[in-house]
Amino acid sequence: MKNIRGIVFDLYGTLFDVHSVAAACDTYHRGRGREISLVWRQKQLEYTWLRSLMGDYVDFEQATRDALAFTSRQLQLPLDEAARTALCEEYLKIKPYPEVPDALARLQAMGLPLAILSNGSVNSIRSVVAASGLGLRFKHLISADDAQIFKPHSSVYKLAEQQLNCDCSELLFVSSNAWDASGARHFGYPVCWINRAGNAFDELGQSPDHVVQGLDQLADWMAAQLIVSRS
Ligand code: 2OP
Repeated sequence: MKNIRGIVFDLYGTLFDVHSVAAACDTYHRGRGREISLVWRQKQLEYTWLRSLMGDYVDFEQATRDALAFTSRQLQLPLDEAARTALCEEYLKIKPYPEVPDALARLQAMGLPLAILSNGSVNSIRSVVAASGLGLRFKHLISADDAQIFKPHSSVYKLAEQQLNCDCSELLFVSSNAWDASGARHFGYPVCWINRAGNAFDELGQSPDHVVQGLDQLADWMAAQLIVSRS
């Protein structure tokens, strides 16, 4: 992969583990935290896609609140207003995957600008990144709020081209979400899919250019590419 001038990351599920909220969910319904977290995440994604199709944008924090309210009713696990508010606040502090801090430092040291392009709201992206202490790693934090529609709509992928002032073919897009990797590949980005869980890639007519099992492997691969391109 030649002429890469920057790296654009998805946030939720790629750099940060959305299921790090499971422990907080568990404090309300012991033993059910993981299940709450799984349904919550799936519904949150569905609401972003459905809102996009309906042309009725609400920001990611609202979609996340709505998804939690649904999850509580669907699983018949009551969460009052205070509990839902507390859990949504936890969502603003989800944890990076263990290998992420070091791998980001290595990638930044290679001299490439790093960006996040997320369906998260401006506030949610800033909050998650600030809580992790990783703010200095990123040159750009780009929110779907600026397009008022969610990925995988092309207007959101366009935002990173505009902010980094590069053609998408010069930016590596990195996501663990196969639907997002497919959307970015369809838009025109070279794509690296982080497949930590050994999942099958989505059948959306696209394939990733590169697959790794963690961000550390992406840093190894990028370092090898730089050695080849300089020799
Ligand atoms: C993102 O960070 C929701 O994972 C998705 O854009």
